[in-house]
Amino acid sequence: MDLQELDNLLSETRENAEKAIAEADTVDALRSAEGRITKGPLADALKNIKSFDAKERGAAGQAINKAKNEVKQLFAKAQETLKQADLEGERRKSANFDPTLPPPLTRRGSLHPVTIVQREIERLFRGLGFAVVGGPEMETEFYNFEALNIPAMHPARDSQDTFWLTNGWLLRTHTSPCQIRAMQRFGPPIRVIAPGRCFRYEALDASHENTFFQLEGLLIDKDISIAHLIAYMKLLLRQVFRRDVKVRLRPGFFPFVEPGFELDMSCAICDGAGCATCKRSGWVEILPCGMVHPNVLRYGGIDPHEYTGFAFGLGLTRLAMMKFGVADIRILNSGDLRGIVHADRLRGERIA
Ligand code: PHE
Repeated sequence: MDLQELDNLLSETRENAEKAIAEADTVDALRSAEGRITKGPLADALKNIKSFDAKERGAAGQAINKAKNEVKQLFAKAQETLKQADLEGERRKSANFDPTLPPPLTRRGSLHPVTIVQREIERLFRGLGFAVVGGPEMETEFYNFEALNIPAMHPARDSQDTFWLTNGWLLRTHTSPCQIRAMQRFGPPIRVIAPGRCFRYEALDASHENTFFQLEGLLIDKDISIAHLIAYMKLLLRQVFRRDVKVRLRPGFFPFVEPGFELDMSCAICDGAGCATCKRSGWVEILPCGMVHPNVLRYGGIDPHEYTGFAFGLGLTRLAMMKFGVADIRILNSGDLRGIVHADRLRGERIA
């Protein structure tokens, strides 16, 4: 190669660089074009410097290096210009920001309807001097049945279909075992409530689940009568529904209370007209209750001649259904939020 040829090559390279710069619209594209040009023909020319006459080699080397620097500067300038343009674009974009536009909608989570009702009742009873206690979901036959005056072979055991575990353990069928545990733990006088999950081996339908929540209440003191029981139950329902709720009291049999009652409320889903939730009767059993049976007091280590008390087993899940107008109990154990619509909206839309 002679100097003339080199000169041609270098100006061609410069032109290529300018063309590449004009075409590149991102910093990355610029970088790769720069690499292609400086590493290609310019590097080759330097490598072949020996092909020049010895006396021309110095001039050739200088020309190549000069061209290389020029190309580098061209690219550096182009990169700077592109960066500026990007910044300008950003600035223009943020100039379009409108602080008066409403923010994008985000759906916030909320507490489960059962939790809401549970907390409300806990607050009420705490204010009345009750302690909130828990109990194991896996229970022994003793606490779930025997100490509640339901001996083995007693037909009452059949009214609560039980999930039996191995070794005589079971999944508690109600929160009533908490009564015995509270008696043993605290001794009289006692004021406790015990909310919790219960299990029954049931066929599922709109008003039966194999997993549901109850809230047990127990008050034991001297001279406690049915009048106390009824007063507390009325207070409880008024607090939850914030209005007077139509109720009826029927005799109810539970081996651990005597006398025992079923407190029903007018179905809030259909307003007493009859629907799937209340099995077309217009009433829902919501608050079984009664005076603690002397045998149960004895099992709990309390002298029934000295103390009396009342107990109730509020159907927490059912109460949440009534309060929030959930027509099918199965919805409460599923992740489907569409069924959680307030009763007012449900009426007429879904209830025949
Ligand atoms: N444990 C009973 C049930 O689940 C309800 C109940 C509790 C009844 C307390 C009376 C007193 O059916």
